[in-house]
Amino acid sequence: MEKRTLIDSLNNNETEEIINYYKTAETDELCKKAASICENIHGKDIILRGLIEFTNYCNQDCLYCGIRKSNLSAVRYRIDKDEIIKTVMIGYNSGLRTFVLQGGEDPFYTSDRICRILEQIKKVTEYNASITLSIGIKSRETYKKFKEAGADRYLLRFETSDPKLYQKIKINSPFERRITAILDIKDLGYETGSGYMTGLPGETEDTRINNALLCKKLDLDMVGVGPFIPSNNTPLAESPKMPLEYSIRATALLRLLLPKAHIPATTAAGTIDPFGREKMVKAGANVLMPNITPVEQKKHYLIYPGKICLDENGNEIIKDLALRMSSIDRKITFSKGSALRFS
Ligand code: 5AD
Repeated sequence: MEKRTLIDSLNNNETEEIINYYKTAETDELCKKAASICENIHGKDIILRGLIEFTNYCNQDCLYCGIRKSNLSAVRYRIDKDEIIKTVMIGYNSGLRTFVLQGGEDPFYTSDRICRILEQIKKVTEYNASITLSIGIKSRETYKKFKEAGADRYLLRFETSDPKLYQKIKINSPFERRITAILDIKDLGYETGSGYMTGLPGETEDTRINNALLCKKLDLDMVGVGPFIPSNNTPLAESPKMPLEYSIRATALLRLLLPKAHIPATTAAGTIDPFGREKMVKAGANVLMPNITPVEQKKHYLIYPGKICLDENGNEIIKDLALRMSSIDRKITFSKGSALRFS
């Protein structure tokens, strides 16, 4: 089995020990260990990052995604610059100090338009907020421009570490191109995030182990993991639903492999289980991403069905998260949550 994993290329005894432990440990035991490592490094604080889904137009056609371009039943929207700034300011006034601008790969949002938005956000938040972009694969020059305009962080999930599966779900786009983009992002000095879905059709336990090992190999600052949820009107709509446990175990394994990383308890986990996010925190996650997209638009960012928090505004969500976290002996914090490598 080891032969088929990335262990050989990592060539590291400690990593091998962690994987062997992961393979034999019961989920409860694994989570307890991961949570204790998390607490030693990050304390009981859970960092909040305000998520703004500013466009659901996308020129990609990923088989799993509800906003793929071929999904003609998706209701499309774009939030313009002024409204993005307004949304950031509402979040800023609620205390948030880090914002994630996420969108489909939307040609309307040229690099110049994105740069103007970044500059404006920096200005209105008086350079007190960190900005993360999550808008897909771009050229190295474009990533450089974004960085110079004020982007601090970039998220680009690799989605699966299995190149064949990747090529299938991304319709022939090469896996290497995505890895090159992640390496460009790192090399340009961004705080770098990536991650994957668990339970994709065709994935095996080896894939799940390799997913976590690839995160280790990339030495990521942020890792997002969530369950794949079959999405209506996509080619994978009829795929079987896999257990949340895959994401829970992934979170714990990632915490053991990358103790310093910022790992969110993802909305997808909260979608398939009412306590999914709490379970991820108990498995070593230390970040939550309240979705502060205006209520008018957020119901249309349906990358998967059943998304939670669609009727609530940012303030209501933050209040709910504060309660949820105190119920499991954690405390939300409005700190910027910079990568520990940078602090
Ligand atoms: N189920 C779960 N997660 C999904 N994503 C996209 N589509 C789905 C789905 N059907 C995830 C991808 C993407 C992130 C923004 O959302 O991992 O990177």
